[in-house]
Amino acid sequence: MKRYARITGTGGYLPETILTNHDLERMVETSDQWITERTGIKKRHIAAESQTTCDLSEMAARRAMEMAGKRAEDIDLIVLATTTPDRIFPSTACLLQARLGVSSGCPAFDVQAVCTGFVYALAVAEKFIRTDSSRCALVVGAETFSRILDWNDRSTCVLFGDGAGAVILEASEEAGILSTHLHADGRYESLLNVPYGLSDGYEHLEAGEAKVQMKGNEVFKIAVNTLGRIVDETLAANGLEKSNIDWLVPHQANIRIINATARKLSMSMDQVVVTVDQHGNTSAASIPLALDVAVRDGRIKRGETVLMEAFGGGFTWGSAILKF
Ligand code: UT7
Repeated sequence: MKRYARITGTGGYLPETILTNHDLERMVETSDQWITERTGIKKRHIAAESQTTCDLSEMAARRAMEMAGKRAEDIDLIVLATTTPDRIFPSTACLLQARLGVSSGCPAFDVQAVCTGFVYALAVAEKFIRTDSSRCALVVGAETFSRILDWNDRSTCVLFGDGAGAVILEASEEAGILSTHLHADGRYESLLNVPYGLSDGYEHLEAGEAKVQMKGNEVFKIAVNTLGRIVDETLAANGLEKSNIDWLVPHQANIRIINATARKLSMSMDQVVVTVDQHGNTSAASIPLALDVAVRDGRIKRGETVLMEAFGGGFTWGSAILKF
């Protein structure tokens, strides 16, 4: 009997503070009209000063565990995707493990693939389950991306937000994740990055200059083409037609990128989960947050076929196709 990894619970958390486009008009030379037309974003959530990525993760994780009917002692793997960990170490996954009271001594680690992080984390956890190394995994995508934004740079600060999403992934004989597809090409690092870190440009990090930089227009064009290719790759790997996909849950970077992928799949926008207007780009959190919204409002139902895809810094890109 084939062993699948199946999503049995989803959870999401958004910090209370909302920053609207009109709020941003008072901070940088921008307009609600520009942001709405170019990105589809109307507002984003921003973590309170005291809130960390682990705090956001905990809320999302508890909601996913509740939906799946799982307690801390049931979890035997934690994979957490983030670009904005609480600390240098321990990993945010280890901090979350302690916070949740997961006392099994199970593996817990972070994955760093920026906006593709959740797809990477899901793919890793799925391999643990398929190979019988895990029966019940907690997979989280969480960011306090606001901390690495230059709030004077209108070309980036209007795009991103904070949040966390989580899923419980369990071993099952019923169909779940059908395939995952991961890619990276580090030659493009200069188009989207934080140019400083601990072992490269530490003095800039200390000076508070380690902030996101992006050549948005170039990233946009490559993202659209690359996501088109990964959609083809995913369908071909499973012998599926476009019409077999019930739902697209894309990374939420820009409504124009999402529209292009939906067109490529000949999908009506009614079959596409869009949260970019409400959440902005929450990087690794965007897909699990969008999934949670559409599961909880009853759109995505058991047995339906869901395609997830993401593109981000690295460049990294990836997809997952699953029976929900
Ligand atoms: O999630 C990770 C992957 N990231 C992405 O996928 C993001 C991909 N890129 C994008 O979503 C879009 O490229 C942006 C939304 C970032 C920018 O949209 P665009 O249509 O590519 O605009 P642009 O960068 O070509 O800029 C057009 C103009 C420029 O002015 P000039 O040079 O034409 O006079 C910018 O200076 O818009 C200006 N601009 C702004 N104006 C008002 C840039 N940011 C703003 C702003 N408000 N916030």
